[in-house]
Amino acid sequence: MKGQQPQNKFSLSDIIGLEEAKDTLELLAKKCIDKECRVGILLWGPPGCGKSFLIEVIASVYDFEIILDTSSNLTSRYVGESEKAVQTMFDRAESIAQTGKPVVIFIDEAESLLPCRESTPDYKSDVVNVFLISMSKSSEYPIMVVLATNHRDKMDTTVLRDGRINNHIFVGFPKIEDYKLLWKMYLDKIAIEDGAKISNDVAIDELADLSYQKLTPVSIKAICEELAMVTQSKSGKQGKIEHDRLVDAISKRAHRIGNELDEFKETLVASARQSDMNGDDDL
Ligand SMILES: Nc1ncnc2c1ncn2[C@@H]1O[C@H](COP(=O)(O)OP(=O)(O)OP(=O)(O)O)[C@@H](O)[C@H]1O
Ligand SMILES: [Mg+2]
Repeated sequence: MKGQQPQNKFSLSDIIGLEEAKDTLELLAKKCIDKECRVGILLWGPPGCGKSFLIEVIASVYDFEIILDTSSNLTSRYVGESEKAVQTMFDRAESIAQTGKPVVIFIDEAESLLPCRESTPDYKSDVVNVFLISMSKSSEYPIMVVLATNHRDKMDTTVLRDGRINNHIFVGFPKIEDYKLLWKMYLDKIAIEDGAKISNDVAIDELADLSYQKLTPVSIKAICEELAMVTQSKSGKQGKIEHDRLVDAISKRAHRIGNELDEFKETLVASARQSDMNGDDDL
């Protein structure tokens, strides 16, 4: 398979944990390339846990062209403009796919482009209609349509069913073992790439315990990068990142992103309630 060539920018081992999500995405990517079936995917979960990263990596490994946008870019105040933007995205994907190259259309913050139609004005419903029509027309090409959201409960349910965006993949917090790997990976990375010095007193297991479900992978990465920069600018090349500095950074960052993560937990409850009401397992 093309995807195994060494020049690819990323490999699946760059993603810590998320084994099930990786396996499912690999399977769906292969199906898409073989044009076995229409592939529509929803990645949902808390912010900063790897939804966009998974697609970036899968696209790199399986040599997909990515056409990517956020809903805020696609959504226009002017009537008809959002529909046009969606249509243009699919047209571009089709023209690339016609050359034989597989394409992934990736729409982030999908709940604002494709919201529940019952609770939104008509002009938003038109966007949903255009999306559904464009998606069904694109099914004869190797095009994978991926939506990402932190708010599955706010999305239009017809988009998420009926053989459309019907592969729902939850991308949640990593397991405790994966927190250890994340700390190790991002500390090693700043040591190699930025020349940061890590003190011998750094205890990865404790960092993992303290940050488990309080920090996301992206915030672990950000702490490492910020401390590398601050330590070097204060103490020069010899400055070391000490364990206590990391512990302090974890507590400050956990406090800062706490509200955002609590908000997501409420979404999770709403989503579970919706599944119960619909009487189905997946949605
Ligand atoms: N599981 C992971 N393993 C390694 N690095 C990760 C992982 N998850 C996230 N990251 C790092 O965090 C960065 C941001 O993650 P990403 O943008 O994929 O989060 P997201 O789930 O899309 O967030 P949002 O909901 O805010 O869009 C990635 O580019 C990557 O560097
Ligand atoms: Mg994202």
